[in-house]
Amino acid sequence: MLSPKTFDRRRAELLRRLDGQAVLLVGTSAPPRTSPYMPYGHRQDSTFLYFTGCEREGAAALIDGDGCTLFIDPPADDDDLWHGHVETLEGIGAHYGVVRVRPASELEAACAGRSLATVGTADPGRTALAARLTGQDTAYFPARGHDALTDAIISMRRIKSDEELAEHRQAAHITSLGFRAAMASTHVGGNEAHIAALFDAVLAARGCGTGYHSIVTVRGEVLHNPHYVNPLAAGDLLLLDGGGERPSGYGVDITRTWPVDGRYSGRQRAAYEAVLAAELASIDLCRPGVRYRDVHMKSAEVLARWLLDEGLLRGSLDAVMESHATAAFFPHGVGHLLGLDTHDLEQFWDRAGYAPGRERSTEFGTAYLRMDLDLEPGFLFTIEPGFYVVPGILRNAALRETWGDLVDWDKYADWIGFGGIRIEDDVLCTEDGSEVLTHETPKTIADVEGLIGTGASALDRLSP
Ligand code: GLY
Ligand code: MN
Ligand code: MN
Repeated sequence: MLSPKTFDRRRAELLRRLDGQAVLLVGTSAPPRTSPYMPYGHRQDSTFLYFTGCEREGAAALIDGDGCTLFIDPPADDDDLWHGHVETLEGIGAHYGVVRVRPASELEAACAGRSLATVGTADPGRTALAARLTGQDTAYFPARGHDALTDAIISMRRIKSDEELAEHRQAAHITSLGFRAAMASTHVGGNEAHIAALFDAVLAARGCGTGYHSIVTVRGEVLHNPHYVNPLAAGDLLLLDGGGERPSGYGVDITRTWPVDGRYSGRQRAAYEAVLAAELASIDLCRPGVRYRDVHMKSAEVLARWLLDEGLLRGSLDAVMESHATAAFFPHGVGHLLGLDTHDLEQFWDRAGYAPGRERSTEFGTAYLRMDLDLEPGFLFTIEPGFYVVPGILRNAALRETWGDLVDWDKYADWIGFGGIRIEDDVLCTEDGSEVLTHETPKTIADVEGLIGTGASALDRLSP
C-alpha cells in the first residue's frame, strides 16, 4: 500500500502546478446490479484514488491551500451489523493523510460560492454533481473540463514513482503465478472457462482483483474476445490476456499464447517466433527520447519481413511499410500507457497519449495506436504486437482494395482458422533504457512448452 504521506505530497504538488487553484474531485458510486442492495463491485475513479487513496464509494475531496477535506457518507447505525466494523470519520481520515473528514451532506455548502476546478468520472451521476457544484462544463469521455487541472493530472500520473512501481511489480509477480497455473493446467478436452476461472482464482487468492475482464480464448483473432465458451482442442492456440490489480488500484496487463496440446505446430511456431522477435525488437528500442510510434513501426517492420518470407504479403518491404499492409495481420497499436487504469488516462484520450501537435492517424491499424509520445524515464507502457488471421479482414472489400496485391488473399484464406497470437509485456522507460516489469511470465517457446499440461487440469484443480 502507499503511504498516507504520498497522497498529501501529490495534493501539494497539484496545487503548486495550479498556482493555488482549489480543486473538487469526486469519487464514483457502485451502480446497482439488481437492486441498490445488490450493487456491482465498486472500483474507485483512478484520479480520485491517485490524490486521496480513498476507495470508498460516493466520496468527494476539496483540495485547497488549507489542506484536503474528504466528504464521505457517515456509516449508518446498522452498518456494523451488515458490514462489520466501521471506522469513525476521523479514523478514516488518518488512512488517507487528509486534514478533515466531513459528512457528504456538507459538500454542497462547502463548495458554494467558490471557484473550483474539476474533472469527470466514469459515473455519470457523480460527474453531473461535480459539474453542478463547480459550475464547470465537464464530461468524462471524451473528457471535457478544466484544462490546467487535466494537464496536471496527466503529467503527474504519467510518471511512475518507485512506490507505484513496487505495486506494479507485486501485481506482475502475482500475475505470473496465474499464467504459470494456467499453462500447467491446459489440457486437450478442457474449456476456456476452466482456465479463466483458475487464472482469476490464483490472482484472488493472492489478494489481487483483475484490472479488466480476463481474455481467455482459442479465438484470439477476436482482439478483446469476452466469451469463455470454447472447448480446448488439439491444434488450438490459447490466448490469455490478463492482469492482476492490487487493492491500491495499480495493476499489470500481460498476454501469452500457447498451444493447447503442448507443442507449437510448424505454422504456430513460425508465427510465434515472428511475434516474439517483433516484441523484443520493439522493447529493445525503448529508451528516453524515442518516439513511441517508431516502437510500433519496429514491430510492424519485423512482422512484415516474416510475412513477406511466408508469402502472406507480397512486394517490397518499402511498399508494404508505406501502405501499412501489415495491419492485415497486426491490426492494432503496439501498446498503451499503463498505471491505475489498464489503458492509463484513456479518458483523456490523445491529450494524454499523444504529444502536442501529433494527430492520430485515421488509417486502419494505426488509428488504434493509443500512444505517440516521446518516451521519458518513469513512463510505464505495454508492448504487445500480435499476428491474427481475421475472417472479417479477409471479407472487407475496402481493405482488400486498399492493399490490393500486397496481401496474398488466397493465402490469407488458407490460414483462416489459425486464430491469433499476442505477446504483451509491461515496460518501464528508465534513465538509460528500459526494464520489463513482467519478465517472470514465461515467454520463450522452450519455457512455455516446458510448462503446458504439467499439472492437473484446471477443472480438477478447482473442483477435484
Ligand atoms: N488487455 C487489453 C489490452 O491489452 O489493451
Ligand atoms: Mn494492453
Ligand atoms: Mn492486454
